[in-house]
Amino acid sequence: MIIPSKKSSFEPLKSDSAGSRGSSGNAIRERENIERLVVFNLRRTEWSVRPTMIKKDFNLELFRPGRHVAVKIFDGDKRVTLLQIEEYLESVARAPQQFTGGVCVSTVGFTPSVYSFLRDERLKNLKLAILRDSKLHWNCEEIDRDEEDKKATYIGVFTCKGGVGKTTISAHLAGALALNGYDVSLVDLDHQRNLSKLLGDSVTMPPADGYRGATIDVGDANTWNQGKKRTKYVVCDCNPEFDANPIDFVKRFDYCIVPTNLSPLGINKNADVIVRTFELIRKVNDSAHLFVLLNGVQAEERKRNAVLNKVLKEQLTSIADRDKRCHYIDPSDVAIRFSKQLLYWGYHLFDGTPPTLGFKRYGKSSYPRMDFLKLVDYLEEHGTISSSKQLKAVAYGYGSTYSR
Ligand SMILES: Nc1ncnc2c1ncn2[C@@H]1O[C@H](COP(=O)(O)OP(=O)(O)OP(=O)(O)O)[C@@H](O)[C@H]1O
Ligand SMILES: [Mg+2]
Repeated sequence: MIIPSKKSSFEPLKSDSAGSRGSSGNAIRERENIERLVVFNLRRTEWSVRPTMIKKDFNLELFRPGRHVAVKIFDGDKRVTLLQIEEYLESVARAPQQFTGGVCVSTVGFTPSVYSFLRDERLKNLKLAILRDSKLHWNCEEIDRDEEDKKATYIGVFTCKGGVGKTTISAHLAGALALNGYDVSLVDLDHQRNLSKLLGDSVTMPPADGYRGATIDVGDANTWNQGKKRTKYVVCDCNPEFDANPIDFVKRFDYCIVPTNLSPLGINKNADVIVRTFELIRKVNDSAHLFVLLNGVQAEERKRNAVLNKVLKEQLTSIADRDKRCHYIDPSDVAIRFSKQLLYWGYHLFDGTPPTLGFKRYGKSSYPRMDFLKLVDYLEEHGTISSSKQLKAVAYGYGSTYSR
C-alpha cells in the first residue's frame, strides 16, 4: 500500500476541475480526451492499463506482476496543490485494493510545496507526471521550476477614457511590486510616452532596512526587451484608444486594471465606459482577470463614497455575473485614494531632481504606498495567472509555450 498521509484533518477537497467548467458536453469530452492521451502514453510502457471502478477517486489502475498503481489525473486550470495530493493519498489508503504505488498526472504542474513534501516524506512510490504536448513528462520539478523562472505576469492598465489615472496607476503599481523586491518592466504603450518622460529609462526603489531594492525598467513596445533580464512583472500603461495599443501585449495580459472614479453625474457614463472597456479587451483576450479600481477616492467623504460606490457596483453586477473573470474591487478592500503625492507626481521634471515615484511619506503615512501594496495583494489573491484554455491547448499539444 502507498504511504498514507499523516494528517487527515483537512477540509474535503473540491472536485479538482469540473467546477470551473461545469458539466457541459465540451468539458466532458475534454476530460475524456485527456484520459485517452494518458492511457495512450502509459500503454507504451510495460504497464497494463485498466479503467478503475472507483471513478470518484482515481482515473486508471496500472498492473505489473506484484505491482498495482492508482492513477489520478488532475485536469484543473491551476497547479496541483499539496492539499490535493494529500486527499489523493487518503483515498488510496481508503481503497479496498492494496495499491503498491501511485501516479498523479497534471495538465498544468505541481506547486513547490508538493515537491518539498514528497522529498521530506521520501514517498518513492508516488510518481508525478505532467501531460504536455500530448506526452507524459516525468521530470516535473525541472519543468515547473523552469516555467516559474520564465513566466512573467503581465498587468495592463487600461480604460477607454482619458485622464483617469492609467499612467499614475501603472507607475505606482510597478513601484509597489518593486517595493516588494521584484524587478519590474514598465512598458509605455501610449504614444504620448508620458511614462518615459516622467521616469526616464529606469528607476530604482531603494531597499528598506535589511531588504533588497528592485529596479523598474521603463521602455516602450519597441525598445522593451523581454529577454533582457528576469522580470517577474510586466506592467503596461495603455493608450485610451484601444486600437492604438499593440495587440500582442493586450493578448498577454494576465490581469488588467480598469481605473474609474466616483462622480455623481458621471456614474452612468463611467459604467458604460467600463462595459465598453471589458468588451474591447475580451475581443482579443478571454482569459485575463479584469479589475475595476476606483481612483482618486476622497478618503474622508465616507457617506458620499458609500452611496456612489453602491450605484456603480450595481450597474456592473450583471457583467460580473456573466464573466467570472471581471471583478469590481470594493473600495473597502482597495481603492487608490486622492493623494497630494500623486497629484504632485511629475514635479521632479521641473525642479531637476532625479525620476522618482510618489512613495514618499508626507505627514503620518503615505496613502499611495499603502494603497498600491494592498492592490498587489488583492491581485494575487483574486486572480489566477494561468488560463485553462491556453493550458489545455498545451496539454493536447496545440501550443508551443506553456503559459502564453
Ligand atoms: N489618486 C490620485 N490622487 C491625486 N491625483 C491623481 C490621482 N490619480 C491621478 N492623479 C492625477 O490626475 C492626472 C491624470 O492622471 P494620469 O496622467 O495618470 O491619467 P491617464 O489616464 O494616464 O491619462 P491619459 O489618458 O491622458 O493617458 C495627473 O495629473 C495625476 O497626477
Ligand atoms: Mg496616461
